[in-house]
Amino acid sequence: MLGLNNAVTEKNNFYGNTDPIKLVEKYGSPLYVYNETIFRERCRELKNLVTYKNFSVNYSVKANGNLSLLKIAKEEGLNADAMSPGEIYVEELAGFKPEDILYISNNVSAEEMQFAIDRDITISVDSLSQLEMYGKLNTGGKICIRFNPGVGAGHHEKVVTGGKKTKFGVAIEDIPVVKDILKTYNLNLIGINQHIGSLFMDGDKYIEGAQSILSIAKNFDDLEFIDMGGGFGIPYKKLSSEPRLDLQHLGKELDKVLHQFAEEYGKEVTFKIEPGRYISAECGVLLGEVHSIKENYGITYVGTDIGFNVLKRPVMYDSHHDIEVYRKDNIPSKNSHPVTLVGNICESGDILAQDRLLPQIMEKDIIGVLDSGAYGYCMASNYNNRLRPAEVLIDSQGNDRLVRRRDTYEDLVRNFDI
Ligand code: LLP
Repeated sequence: MLGLNNAVTEKNNFYGNTDPIKLVEKYGSPLYVYNETIFRERCRELKNLVTYKNFSVNYSVKANGNLSLLKIAKEEGLNADAMSPGEIYVEELAGFKPEDILYISNNVSAEEMQFAIDRDITISVDSLSQLEMYGKLNTGGKICIRFNPGVGAGHHEKVVTGGKKTKFGVAIEDIPVVKDILKTYNLNLIGINQHIGSLFMDGDKYIEGAQSILSIAKNFDDLEFIDMGGGFGIPYKKLSSEPRLDLQHLGKELDKVLHQFAEEYGKEVTFKIEPGRYISAECGVLLGEVHSIKENYGITYVGTDIGFNVLKRPVMYDSHHDIEVYRKDNIPSKNSHPVTLVGNICESGDILAQDRLLPQIMEKDIIGVLDSGAYGYCMASNYNNRLRPAEVLIDSQGNDRLVRRRDTYEDLVRNFDI
């Protein structure tokens, strides 16, 4: 195999004992490929973020809920957050126990809330009205409340979840009403949480958010835990040497803040974080095949099988993913050219990468979309009745294994009454 610009995956031996050409021959295209070693490394980095003893990493499984990865996260000693009963269901299958799960609900029905109550899973509610709903369903129960700390961060306005212009969390000024509702229903507030948004590369915003939720915490006497949320960023522009988030510095700063709070609060409290992307993004590469190349009015379009049904991030958030190119035959490319990589979906917005300088690409080349392990497969769809791809794991020994099969045509009609 010829790797034309495969420095990233070569350096971390991403494909283990195989290579992307063989993987596509064996499992088909497009194909999500995950590397177990990288996934485990990221779990461990975050588990060791601070020295504070009562610290728990709740993997935010919405980023990548593949059952095999969840089992590995469990093995690594992580807990999990859940955003829906479906996530709870899969987490239970992966071996997470009720006490390992925090259900961070948002605008849920009474049935959904009951689903978690029946399983004795702690629920975080996101509004005064949902707090009332919980109070009626489970009077005298334990509850967690998501606050909006007034601080937000994120790579796109659609994923900033804290601050005055988002739908999330209870406002700080509503604390007196919160106390009234807690009293009315005899509820025990055991935790509070926040999430400022997704993808910060500068830890200062996170520390600011942490300080803000900790000052909210001082309004309540019996908290068992405080969850500061996720959002830890990864460098998507590795080929341009984008620096990593300085996790060591962030950890040190956070440690100081946590120790100081614990002293002032005067009671053992557990601190939680809720990372999704940081844990799974870099363990995933999405492989696809080049089917056509054409020149249209001065633009070179490289037509692939990676439509936005397979990877939605570029279309939804203008997200950048670095691209590698692999070739079966040993034919070198002469020059690099700016090209626009597109998928096979019926919309002109179906663009994977615009005006990207890449080694001259040929039909049948395989492309690797880096850092696709988070918010990749989980946001894929059957739009245009296309089949969602398969997922493969490169295990710690470097061997490949199918961990989710590709959709079949039968899957497309499974729920019809035929
Ligand atoms: N906790 C809560 C309550 C969240 O809503 C989220 C993400 C997380 C934790 C995990 O955030 P992370 O550590 O992964 O940044 N689809 C978007 C990202 C949406 C994130 C939504 N909430 C993307 O592809 O960039």
